[in-house]
Amino acid sequence: MSKQVEKIKELVAKREQARLGGGEKAIEKQHARGKYTARERIEMLVDEGSFEEYDMFKKHRCTNFGMDKKHYYGDGVVAGSATVDGRLVYVYAQDFTVNGGSLSETMAQKICKVMDMAMTMGAPVICMNDSGGARIQEGICALAGYGEIFERNILASGVVPQISAIMGPCAGGAVYSPALTDFIIMKEQTSYMFLTGPKVVKTVTGEDIDAEHLGGASVHATKSGVTHFAAKTEEEAIEMIKSLLSFIPSNNTEEAPRVECNDPINRMEDSLNEIIPDDPNKAYDMYKVIGAVTDNGEFFEVQPKFAKNIIIGFAR
Ligand code: HXC
Repeated sequence: MSKQVEKIKELVAKREQARLGGGEKAIEKQHARGKYTARERIEMLVDEGSFEEYDMFKKHRCTNFGMDKKHYYGDGVVAGSATVDGRLVYVYAQDFTVNGGSLSETMAQKICKVMDMAMTMGAPVICMNDSGGARIQEGICALAGYGEIFERNILASGVVPQISAIMGPCAGGAVYSPALTDFIIMKEQTSYMFLTGPKVVKTVTGEDIDAEHLGGASVHATKSGVTHFAAKTEEEAIEMIKSLLSFIPSNNTEEAPRVECNDPINRMEDSLNEIIPDDPNKAYDMYKVIGAVTDNGEFFEVQPKFAKNIIIGFAR
């Protein structure tokens, strides 16, 4: 076998290993929790065959607390560029099978790279978070990594859209960063946003609280308003990302995408004469009014369960 063929075989084997993240057992555990892996999520989101992965073999450089013996290719995040409905996006998904998706210094470097490229290219950044926050073993290096990410969240704000899907238990920086982005989507029952998990809360404060009450979708979609959307399944969460993208421009110099409307060009809505009652003290269904004036009667509501005395959302 020539040296070149050997090298290619080595590369193929390394890629296969990288695709396994934390290993087959960890993937089984992830599936048993009713969660998809980072790679499966990206596959569901992007146009088939469009994903170009960056830094697949990157490893952390921490040697404390036995981490010198715990290395996985890619270091807990899958990152790259792809297209969604033919439009360029930058995407990263944290891999819970590798150290609970926790953020290392090198993981932060990978994330910052896609964020920088998104700003250069004028394309949205989509993150799918499933992470316990700053990797405790790395201490200040992991915290500094979040500092770099937060700075980019701020720089990208108002320039390119930033969309975060919360797909698992997210703590610390894995929550603070999404909270700085434009839109958050949470998967009900298996995703959480909190400063730290229930076990740490119990140890530190003595308080007993379950994950759902501490930071589940039911809390953030209704009381805090932190999440803009709540999805029953991961598939639904990913469809929501796609719907959202269809309404927004890729950057602050572009127009929003145009979508075909099947309404008759001279469409008149007689129902509008009736829906709003003459009596100002009488209630009426505002959704009916919105549906009557939008293209194809479609409305993509944002924060449907939060501050219900106002309706907001996207329509054409
Ligand atoms: C290193 C972590 C980790 C972390 C989880 N793991 N969080 N490793 N650093 N932050 C590891 C666990 O040790 C475990 O490894 C595996 O991930 C899965 O975690 P479990 O606890 O078994 O899972 P689960 O019961 O689902 O609970 C998930 C969790 C919980 C709720 C995220 O692990 C948790 O509360 N972690 C601590 C979260 C935290 O305090 N983060 C804040 C970091 S500070 P093994 O090897 O056993 O499978 C921060 C501040 C940023 O982010 C500020 C920037 C300026």
